[in-house]
Amino acid sequence: MRTLAWIVTCCVLTSPALADPRSDYLLHCAGCHRPDGTGLPPSVPSLVGPLGTIAASPAGRDYLARVPGAAQAPLSDEELAAVLNWVLVEFNRESLPDSFQPLKGSEVADSRARVLADPLKLRREIWPELDQY
Ligand code: HEC
Repeated sequence: MRTLAWIVTCCVLTSPALADPRSDYLLHCAGCHRPDGTGLPPSVPSLVGPLGTIAASPAGRDYLARVPGAAQAPLSDEELAAVLNWVLVEFNRESLPDSFQPLKGSEVADSRARVLADPLKLRREIWPELDQY
């Protein structure tokens, strides 16, 4: 009986139906960006702070899902949108505009199809005022 309970608990806990953005972040992003989002600059940028400013413009919303780590993550469009929204609210609340509308799966689908070969180049062009990693 105890074994059965363990199996049930195990399967319920690992069920994809229970996947949530925080778990997806830990599984697919934290290996590089670290669990607290601070990354390992300059090789891996911090996701804490400036992304709210980036997410404030259409070009920035587009950029977030075009960086290779996000675009190529083994997540559905909806899951990736949820992870990016989670990162924005969890780590960038202070720079996020009040008018921010969460990213949608359809929007992310369009962006991630155009994965960036040189994200840093585009970032420097569009947001020269932001700290560069
Ligand atoms: C293999 C390591 C790796 C993984 C995994 C990874 N990233 Fe990244 N990420 C990077 C690196 C390196 C950059 C810098 C741009 C580049 O060279 O790709 C970056 C850049 C970014 C940026 C742009 C930050 C800025 O300030 O311009 C965002 C947003 C981002 N990643 C989100 C994510 C999300 C969300 C995930 C998980 C779905 C993820 N990354 C997974 C390594 C990774």
